[in-house]
Amino acid sequence: MVKICCIGAGYVGGPTMAVIALKCPEIEVAVVDISVSRITAWNSDTLPIYEPGLDEVVKKCRGKNLFFSSDVEKHVSEADIVFVSVNTPTKTQGLGAGKAADLTYWESAARMIADVSKSNKIVVEKSTVPVKTAEAIEKILTHNSKGIDFQILSNPEFLAEGTAIQDLFNPDRVLIGGRETPEGQKAIAALRDVYAHWVPVDRIICSNLWSAELSKLAANAFLAQRISSVNAMSALCEATGADVSQVSHAVGKDTRIGPKFLNASVGFGGSCFQKDILNLVYICECNGLPEVANYWKQVIKINDYQKTRFVNRIVSSMFNTVSGKKIAILGFAFKKDTGDTRETPAIDVCKGLLGDKALLSIYDPQVNEEQIQRDLAMKKFDWDHPVHLQPMSPTSIKQVNVVWDAYAATKDAHGVCILTEWDEFKTLDYQRIYDNMRKPAFIFDGRNVVDEAKLRAIGFIVYSIGKPLDQWLKDMPAVA
Ligand code: UDX
Ligand code: ADP
Repeated sequence: MVKICCIGAGYVGGPTMAVIALKCPEIEVAVVDISVSRITAWNSDTLPIYEPGLDEVVKKCRGKNLFFSSDVEKHVSEADIVFVSVNTPTKTQGLGAGKAADLTYWESAARMIADVSKSNKIVVEKSTVPVKTAEAIEKILTHNSKGIDFQILSNPEFLAEGTAIQDLFNPDRVLIGGRETPEGQKAIAALRDVYAHWVPVDRIICSNLWSAELSKLAANAFLAQRISSVNAMSALCEATGADVSQVSHAVGKDTRIGPKFLNASVGFGGSCFQKDILNLVYICECNGLPEVANYWKQVIKINDYQKTRFVNRIVSSMFNTVSGKKIAILGFAFKKDTGDTRETPAIDVCKGLLGDKALLSIYDPQVNEEQIQRDLAMKKFDWDHPVHLQPMSPTSIKQVNVVWDAYAATKDAHGVCILTEWDEFKTLDYQRIYDNMRKPAFIFDGRNVVDEAKLRAIGFIVYSIGKPLDQWLKDMPAVA
């Protein structure tokens, strides 16, 4: 029986291994993590991550051929294939600070694999890593191998949160990179056989190691670039009276461009986009390509500009001050259908408003108070360390109140900001919300989910990203 072990029971490792277990009943899959509380949660009725469809998959396989354990060494030593899906934070100190990936967790995982292995293993890079990580890992493993053969593969994950199970069931492609030696090709074939249980073979792409690693960074950079492109257009639309959704629709009808990923927003978030682009920038700089590095940097700059622009709109339209005013924040996750808040634009928007002394009342259907307080107290990049190594939030921020209901959040508020596109925000009783707010009542829609005309008819002053501006906003222009 083939045994698979995955180190790191996070957003990538958990769902990916659950789907492998479901689709390959004859393979035993163990997911291990140094975080005992995370493993306990995976073994409980309340999984540590929210992902539509995940519960059912886990329930079907857990205890049969899917196991969650904190006995990392035992499962690694028994496995034929070891996936590594640990944190790869951005370095905050030293060489490459603010850009390069910190490979501390990867390196310690690799050293542990070398220490405990007694049989040959295929080691698969699953978490996004900078190009050439495989080479570094290979060096650690082979220098400590005690005669054991380690084959390193890169098998980047392309799943998006909120649709992870669907993406895993029906991937656009599976990419496997490996060495171009007979042993490397054999390892690629072994992993291809796992995916071939449910993925059509023409969707399984094989390449060399570096191409696979770089493809992951490139794919995320291209996706993020589309969002920054449409967000850049949204600023121009507001300045000129065009409607960004009409522009996106018209542009996306060109089959060469396509309609997906053209929604203007308050900015992209998530654990991958910014980190991967920063990595790409660092690699370009290290390879003497400053022009290419600057090109990709601009994608992040526009994303930051979009968040700043949004905050400035709020403050300027509310008579240039939000000090002491209650502002309701609807949605804190970086997108709908996930409880994940990593790099969510809500953090920067909230921090911007707090900087102007606003009182925030935050509601997100999937994010709890502890997480929100921790996010707002944390420094940039601290989020991407295992939870037990993250700095504790010193004291909760007093200007922030987290509630479990959109109506409680908006009661007596001066303004409402929609920062995540949760479906429920489309169908709220906005008349009721308006009646319970201070006047003039403002709505700042950072996700273009509300029907502006209806809200204006109720009496709201509405700002929607990239849409023609209310006279009120035109009279109170924001300085970015
Ligand atoms: C992304 C990639 O899509 C996935 O392939 C990769 O494996 C990991 O990184 P994820 O971060 O989970 O996935 O979410 P994604 O759906 O890509 O959204 C990223 C951010 O972009 C979100 O904040 C989302 O709201 C925003 N977004 C997306 C927009 O602002 N506009 C869009 O049109 C699409
Ligand atoms: P991703 O989104 O890439 O899945 P997460 O942060 O959700 O990232 O998950 C990474 C997981 O890896 C965390 O649960 C963390 O505790 C775990 N981890 C980090 N280092 C190690 C290690 N050396 N051994 C086992 N687990 C580890």
